[in-house]
Amino acid sequence: MDSRPIGVFDSGLGGLTCVKKLMEVMPGEDIIYLGDTGRVPYGGRSRETIIKYAREDIGFLRSFDIKAVAAACGTVSTNGLEEIAGDYPIPVFGVADAAARAAAELTRTGRVGLIGTRASIRSTAYDEKILRCRPGTKIFKRACPLFVPLVEEGRVGEDDPVLRMVAEQYLEELKLADIDVLILGCTHYPLIAGTVASIMGPGVKLIDPGAQTALALRRYLAEHDALSGRERGRQSYFVTDSAEDFGHAASLFLNSHVEGDVRRVSLEERYNGK
Ligand code: DGL
Repeated sequence: MDSRPIGVFDSGLGGLTCVKKLMEVMPGEDIIYLGDTGRVPYGGRSRETIIKYAREDIGFLRSFDIKAVAAACGTVSTNGLEEIAGDYPIPVFGVADAAARAAAELTRTGRVGLIGTRASIRSTAYDEKILRCRPGTKIFKRACPLFVPLVEEGRVGEDDPVLRMVAEQYLEELKLADIDVLILGCTHYPLIAGTVASIMGPGVKLIDPGAQTALALRRYLAEHDALSGRERGRQSYFVTDSAEDFGHAASLFLNSHVEGDVRRVSLEERYNGK
């Protein structure tokens, strides 16, 4: 048994898709969440900057003596996470591994779609991971850079006209590609899954990488006898910009009150270590 918390991070709200599933499948675990809201979005930045931010995010979480990290950010997971993960003495899970595996298992036609930030789509990490699990899979990709700001602005309703207009344009080519599985390759996107599903139609199954990662993390902790053994865990949230705004949006998304527990921090160079 290991009672230490699990650390989870993202650039903003998206990583809560992983937290939500973690709370569902491992209610006894303590979770420390970091949303780097002062620097969101990561998806338009260079690989070097994304790696630097990821190191600072992980360094901050490690100041709490955590037992594992979930990089609940598609952008970080496809831009250098594998290079830096080995630098830490605890397991570091990226969301792309579990999502790629799930897509490879779920597709019947071998035609898989991937949407994500510019940085995730520019990277070949997803292609490599999917092809490793299922050689010959055809992968169709599309960057959707406006989705993250829309989600961060709370424009997530299925009836939101701006979201729908943007989503219809982004998904146009993927609709013609005859895919049967679509990876929501940015952890913000499950918040707009309703809109995406209604555009893609019932023949396309959606994959939520944060949720898949929570399941993979549970398997790992169970296999390593590292579950907490508690009935109920606690969650603490940290952000690098306004705590109030994040707390409100997070409560809506998680269906629980988190306002009081959100604290603002600044990520300094001191968190850059291993
Ligand atoms: N939620 C993140 C991702 O999965 C980050 C999006 C962003 O900051 O651009 O890619």
